[in-house]
Amino acid sequence: MTSPAAIPEKMTAVAISSPGGPMVLKPERRDVPTPEAGEILIEVKAAGVNRPDVFQRQGAYPPPPGASDLPGLEVAGIVAALGEGATRWRVGDKVCALTPGGGYAEYATVHESNALPIPSGFTFTEAAALPETFFTVWHNVFERGGLKSGETFLVHGGSSGIGTTAIQLASAFGARVLTTAGSADKCGACEKLGADRAINYRTEDFVAVVKEVTEGKGANVILDMVGGDYVARNYTAAAIEGRIVQIATLGGAVGTTDFSKLMMKRLVHTGSTLRPRTVEVKAGIAAALEAQVWPLLAARRVAPVMDMIFPLREAWRAHERMEEGDHIGKIVLDVA
Ligand SMILES: NC(=O)c1ccc[n+]([C@@H]2O[C@H](COP(=O)([O-])OP(=O)(O)OC[C@H]3O[C@@H](n4cnc5c(N)ncnc54)[C@H](OP(=O)(O)O)[C@@H]3O)[C@@H](O)[C@H]2O)c1
Repeated sequence: MTSPAAIPEKMTAVAISSPGGPMVLKPERRDVPTPEAGEILIEVKAAGVNRPDVFQRQGAYPPPPGASDLPGLEVAGIVAALGEGATRWRVGDKVCALTPGGGYAEYATVHESNALPIPSGFTFTEAAALPETFFTVWHNVFERGGLKSGETFLVHGGSSGIGTTAIQLASAFGARVLTTAGSADKCGACEKLGADRAINYRTEDFVAVVKEVTEGKGANVILDMVGGDYVARNYTAAAIEGRIVQIATLGGAVGTTDFSKLMMKRLVHTGSTLRPRTVEVKAGIAAALEAQVWPLLAARRVAPVMDMIFPLREAWRAHERMEEGDHIGKIVLDVA
């Protein structure tokens, strides 16, 4: 390990003291992790908060084997040390990274290939808001869903961290963007971000609106985090040869649908979860993002939507905010 900077033995981290509500998130002293071969140690300046962290805190989303038990799937900070054979970064570089866990801490380790440079002009808190949603949206919307310029894209939960990223990227790559959200304010925010039409699902039927604005054709790609009774409705809202990509089941993991639509429309219904994927798969997504999306970030054509920032020690407040459901965009922890 190469480490010219002074690295303390202990750090402050926020751990899940036992499964439960936000108050089980407690600061504690931990050993600073040591980077293994190919890894870097990051002095964390900010960490993103994501819905999967809430599920982990509740005991419903255990970390994959070998990952830290601390929550936190994304960080931004300064490279503090290099593991054996790690050559991509130098100590002192500013990076943001996708972590398999362990982000709610003053130091975190990550494979060097799962880190990206902080886009120029971005603060640490903005950079910490990027990896989880940008990796997820890129992989699911563009790699799995194959969204192309000129196609119609529907994303459910448009005001979420994932949704605000999906709206901006789909719009930047030339798609017509439709989205659903649960209030007029959230719909307004989605349209400001580039959605051509935001549908308040509490007052409108998204299937009818999608049909109306596409002159009966339907959406070519649908990114869905709801599941449940949305599965059948997505099959109706999808275009011929449509691709439906499932990334969560917030509305229920079980649904009933008319599978004849799958055949008649030649639909593809796929899905994925990012966290358990291999370092190599994540490295491939990182490389695609750096080539195709990082220039858009540097030009501020795309930027994370920042909801609120809380100090690391008050991570419980960040979780409370997320569970109240009023946030628009990303919630971030300030670790500095
Ligand atoms: N598969 C993957 O690789 C992957 C990776 C990252 C995240 N995810 C998932 O993607 C989803 C969004 O993540 P995020 O971090 O962006 O979370 P988030 O900001 O909290 O967004 C959740 C959104 O879902 C909407 N929603 C619809 N039905 C809901 C329900 N029954 N309960 C709660 N919210 C509901 C909410 O919008 P309204 O108020 O408008 O309903 C809210 O904006 C989460 O389910 C997360 O687990 C999946």
